[in-house]
Amino acid sequence: MINTFDAFKKFKSRLELRDGEQKKASKLQQDARALVGEHFVIARDFLTGSYKRHTKTRPLKDVDIFFVLDKEKEKKYLDNPLGLLEDIRKVLAPVYGEAKVKVGRRSVGVDLAYDPNDEDKILSIDVVPAFDKDNHYQIPDNVLQDWVNTDPEIHAEEATAANKAFDGEWKPMVKMIKKWNETQGKPIKPSFLIEVMAMQMLYPPFSGGYVYELKSFFATAADRISETWNDPAGLGSPVSDQMDAQRITLARQKLAEAGKFVDQAIQAERNGNQVGALRIWRDNVFGDMFPLS
Ligand SMILES: Nc1ncnc2c1ncn2[C@@H]1O[C@H](COP(=O)(O)OP(=O)(O)OP(=O)(O)O)[C@@H](O)[C@H]1O
Ligand SMILES: [Mg+2]
Repeated sequence: MINTFDAFKKFKSRLELRDGEQKKASKLQQDARALVGEHFVIARDFLTGSYKRHTKTRPLKDVDIFFVLDKEKEKKYLDNPLGLLEDIRKVLAPVYGEAKVKVGRRSVGVDLAYDPNDEDKILSIDVVPAFDKDNHYQIPDNVLQDWVNTDPEIHAEEATAANKAFDGEWKPMVKMIKKWNETQGKPIKPSFLIEVMAMQMLYPPFSGGYVYELKSFFATAADRISETWNDPAGLGSPVSDQMDAQRITLARQKLAEAGKFVDQAIQAERNGNQVGALRIWRDNVFGDMFPLS
């Protein structure tokens, strides 16, 4: 039988990015670049977002690919951010399929065909068109109907620093909490908000145990989910701008519930019911990537 410590170790390794996934992501980037490059002048392109920071959950979904367009050659879009998203959609749709390509809030999403049994599968990519602006970028925002400023490099540096201060366990824990959020139907939206909250809430040093760190995270997050959480780079709109009153209530309820399940798992283990404890972690908290054996 596996103990909780080893179960978490295995869970953590199941959430780690695989070589095969990185190869696939790189190929998808090349394919998208070739296609987008037929219609737009691209200055630079790179994989970014939680994928690049190693805070994305598996299986990989919505891998962000940034396309920084040539500001001079594509200047007609500078006053038309939503038109840019639509024109990117028009380029991708005939190749990937009309029904598979959708304009999202700040990107164009492409659902990919995949083999469900493939351990390295990638479910979708997000193509993000961008322009250089000062030392950062501007990207279209469909909700604000304008450009929004962003700097993924600053987010990446901050995540790396947080991870280092937390004994290398910050990124694994962020992935675990994002996995919890997914299995609960995403009460916290967007999932980047979890990362932003975790910068303040997973407070170093790492105590040495995931169980009590999670218990503490769920309790503090339930308290603080109603706050305004700004872009940690100080550039974009508040990361919490989709959390309206209804979502806050639901998220708070789910976070409180998660805390109770953690207590139940701790209690089961104390009572010598190891199998029961693992069942709670899997069935009520993290879903089927959490191992029972
Ligand atoms: N409000 C914001 N202001 C500035 N930059 C933002 C904001 N929201 C997101 N970003 C940047 O855009 C990137 C892509 O956003 P996205 O919503 O895909 O988040 P993500 O971190 O990639 O999470 P997921 O795992 O859900 O894909 C983020 O990683 C972050 O660097
Ligand atoms: Mg993303």
